[in-house]
Amino acid sequence: MTNKEKSAKKLRETIDLFRCPICQSPIKVFDLKSLICPNNHTFDIAKQGYINMMTRPTNSLYDKKLFEARQQIITGSNLYTLLHDRVSKIIKEHLDSTNDSIVILDAGCGEGSHLQKVTETVGNVATTRMGLDVSKEGVIMAAKNYKDTIWLVGDLANTPIGDGSCQVILNIFSPANYMEFKRVLAPNGLVVKVVPRANYLKELREVFIPETSNGMYSNDETVSLFKKHFHSVSHYQLCYSKTLNQEDLIHLAEMSPLAWNAKKEQIDAFIHQDATEITVDLDILVGSYDAEGGRA
Ligand SMILES: C[S@@+](CC[C@H](N)C(=O)[O-])C[C@H]1O[C@@H](n2cnc3c(N)ncnc32)[C@H](O)[C@@H]1O
Ligand SMILES: [Zn+2]
Repeated sequence: MTNKEKSAKKLRETIDLFRCPICQSPIKVFDLKSLICPNNHTFDIAKQGYINMMTRPTNSLYDKKLFEARQQIITGSNLYTLLHDRVSKIIKEHLDSTNDSIVILDAGCGEGSHLQKVTETVGNVATTRMGLDVSKEGVIMAAKNYKDTIWLVGDLANTPIGDGSCQVILNIFSPANYMEFKRVLAPNGLVVKVVPRANYLKELREVFIPETSNGMYSNDETVSLFKKHFHSVSHYQLCYSKTLNQEDLIHLAEMSPLAWNAKKEQIDAFIHQDATEITVDLDILVGSYDAEGGRA
């Protein structure tokens, strides 16, 4: 069976989770090749198994090289292992024993490795994983590497997902759209948003944008907007450092917009260190929303 057919079969089993991003009607799988709505809006399943459900042209700043570097760091170093463990634990603690199957959407999934890592240890519940990103490059890479997940090119501000479909929405280092997140969240569902704090990758900032390395960066607005939108918000801070070897440092410099405007000498100086401690300093914001109860 081809990737496309496998993907079409998986989509047939989960088709009730989807809606047309153009007219919001329910969608069906057609001929194991595409998704189609009653108004004939059609979205083809690509040969890699992902579906392009974008409704507007986009111009992503993130390219293949950046996503490859992110993947190397996320899967090949232990820089984010503690983050993955913590997010998995948060999800497990939230799911009660009545949840025998859950849907997890990663909104702004990039190349998909965070979703994969977080869900590897979520536990025994049957998990439908969906990753959505505006970047086709990222989603193609995700679809090639992680075949058990539904991968969508799409806009998190207009997701092709039906109301109340997701028990968990992950939103890691990505923009958010809280109206849309609340629409697709199942009753008592959970949004887990990960945002950098002032010292996140400070060793990279010190070299590439020293003006932001003095603790002046603040995520206060992001945190307070999240708290306005969700009920019973838990706010965790996660701060640790890990030693990265030279190969990892090269990937780190390539994976981050922090180094985009750097000079060659700055990049050389950074990657020619033998090994160095890198700081991960994050807020993990966890909120739920009960449409009946309105806002907290
Ligand atoms: C810093 S990257 C983080 C990607 C991934 N979560 C990670 O940590 O590797 C931000 C991501 O948000 C995506 N993004 C930006 N705007 C988006 C939108 N409107 N809808 C979906 N994805 C979006 C970008 O394409 C990019 O992959
Ligand atoms: Zn339609």
